[in-house]
Amino acid sequence: MDMNKNENKKEGFGSKIGFIFAAAGSAVGLGNIWRFPYLAAKYGGGIFLLVYIILAITFGFSLMISEIAIGRKTGKSVIGAYKEADKRFSFLGPIAAIVPFIITPYYCVIGGWVLKYLAVFATGFGKNVADDGEFFTGFIGEWSQPTLFFAVFAFLTALVVILGVQKGIEMISKILMPVLLVLIVGIAVYTLTIPGALNGLKYYLLPNFSGFTFSAFLKTLIAAMGQLFYSMSLAMGIMVTYGSYMRKEDSLEGSVRQIEIFDTSVAILAGMIIVPSVFAFSNGDPAALNKGPSLMFITLPNVFKTMKGGQIVGGFFFFLVALAALTSAISLLETIVSIVCEKTKMNRFLGTTICFVFVLVVGLTSVFGYSIWDKVTIFGYQFLDFYDFISNNVIMPVVSLLTCVLIGYFVKTKYIEDEVLVGEEKFRAKGLYKVMILAICPICMLIILISNFFLNL
Ligand code: PFF
Repeated sequence: MDMNKNENKKEGFGSKIGFIFAAAGSAVGLGNIWRFPYLAAKYGGGIFLLVYIILAITFGFSLMISEIAIGRKTGKSVIGAYKEADKRFSFLGPIAAIVPFIITPYYCVIGGWVLKYLAVFATGFGKNVADDGEFFTGFIGEWSQPTLFFAVFAFLTALVVILGVQKGIEMISKILMPVLLVLIVGIAVYTLTIPGALNGLKYYLLPNFSGFTFSAFLKTLIAAMGQLFYSMSLAMGIMVTYGSYMRKEDSLEGSVRQIEIFDTSVAILAGMIIVPSVFAFSNGDPAALNKGPSLMFITLPNVFKTMKGGQIVGGFFFFLVALAALTSAISLLETIVSIVCEKTKMNRFLGTTICFVFVLVVGLTSVFGYSIWDKVTIFGYQFLDFYDFISNNVIMPVVSLLTCVLIGYFVKTKYIEDEVLVGEEKFRAKGLYKVMILAICPICMLIILISNFFLNL
């Protein structure tokens, strides 16, 4: 039939470990290091952790295996994949595809902020960053520097994508992911030696059920589910795309388990760095942890300022965050490049260049939204927050809900089960998978949607 359509398909990961590192590289990102710790801190430490882990091995596992299996089975980018699975669901691919187009630009903007912090610490000026937020707001409130760092970050991302799946993404992931793991374990061990940190660790790891109400539980559950999408790069075509590059002979179920373990461990370790050190720094005041998104950019530099060797630890920390953000941005950009190349039959170089320019232009709206356009809002949100809200709170739950309906009630779970069995003899979690896809996942998704959208919980 159409020979050209195999242009993309020819490319693929060369090894199982290459696939696992690349997919884990996608999953492990700002979500793990910047978002997970502040959510865990906000929603009661240990309880959030417990809920998150249970969700990861049930809900996250089922959604991730579905997406990778659809990708591998069809060998297509997200638009073609859903269409091939069932013509009636052709509309789902384009909806999922919108997400990386929205997220990639603003993700690179935040990646730029991280690069700026890395540059400040690496040049020995980390102490200048430690204040009540003036440095951070001053930096993002002025457009030129954020634009510069954003452009550098987006350029590095594009460079890897241009090199291709094996020579770019796989190679860089195989180098960066082990480095990232060593760094995060090293920094976590070091920060736990700070006096007072162990009490923070207790707050973080041990669930405290006293005074925990049903409504608090529901909020924790919803926050944990939202975080799971974000962290595991679900419902936005990334895992479908990476699945399409996965070798048939490799174990799907085993790979998904390893990706999940990697992703969840990094999130927990990031929390182990941030929560106990902030706890110790604030003399055990949990309110210090309730700083939301500014925890990493404002509170943490203050901790580094007082910590012994904090300037060096801070430098390593922001280097680690930059690596995590880079491998995730690569997967986001790769997803849009794969769509553009598949649709237009353009080569990778041209496709990536066009997508890079797109990222720069749209990303600028996020940069300007905090500076020269700070009076402009969309439905009350600043640009970056609007992009984040619309993708994470609206489109992603819809995509996941419809993916469950497609698999559970149209193509049937056997469609996925057969693909899982291509690379291994047994689908060990088949029973769990069916229950999740047919009932629990769709119900959870409806709860998320209703709460996010209508109740604005
Ligand atoms: N999973 C990655 C992270 O946790 O940062 C990348 C990512 C993808 C983040 C998509 C957010 C998102 F909506």
